[in-house]
Amino acid sequence: MDIKKSKEEFLELLRSTGRDGVEDLISGLEDMGFFEAPASANHHLNTEGGLVQHSVNTCKAALAVWEGMKALEPGLKNEVERDSVIIASLLHDVCKSDIYVRSVRKRKNALGMWEDNEGYKVTYRNFPMGHGEKSVILLLCNGLEMTDAEMLAIRWHMGAWGINMNSLEDQRSYDASRMLYPLVAIVQAADSLAASIMERSGEEQDEL
Ligand SMILES: [Fe+2]
Ligand SMILES: [Fe+2]
Repeated sequence: MDIKKSKEEFLELLRSTGRDGVEDLISGLEDMGFFEAPASANHHLNTEGGLVQHSVNTCKAALAVWEGMKALEPGLKNEVERDSVIIASLLHDVCKSDIYVRSVRKRKNALGMWEDNEGYKVTYRNFPMGHGEKSVILLLCNGLEMTDAEMLAIRWHMGAWGINMNSLEDQRSYDASRMLYPLVAIVQAADSLAASIMERSGEEQDEL
């Protein structure tokens, strides 16, 4: 993985929106450790720079979904703008910037011998606000201007996986967001497509 290239792509996409607050947000992301963070502790892109790589992958997938859906539903171009697709997809997982800390774990190798394995463990010590909702709040606190559609697409990007099924309010808010703003479904699909298609590793497939 080329971390420098991923960061450059990320910054170019983000700046292409010309959105108010982008430069303040970039320095906030630097401070939060966004550009060094992995995308997960044990799954896809669990190495330094994994989070920025996953963000760029999700953005590319979101732009492809948006283009594809506009071809099927021409009215979509009046409802969802390119800048919104970029903002919501590129920044959906900003909440992960501060949850991974380096750790060394014992793991059995192919010969059944225990060996040290460098990786990450997860902590929710810093600002334990949740997932999508944490991303939205961090972005607002760092001065980024966002539309309702963008905030809701980030808030609900986990789809049904992110809903508290004991909360009717959560379920109805998610349904309403999806009905009102096509961007919600675009970002949710893109996140899943990035992880399931663009970020599959042979190692993970071997472990199935
Ligand atoms: Fe996420
Ligand atoms: Fe994600």
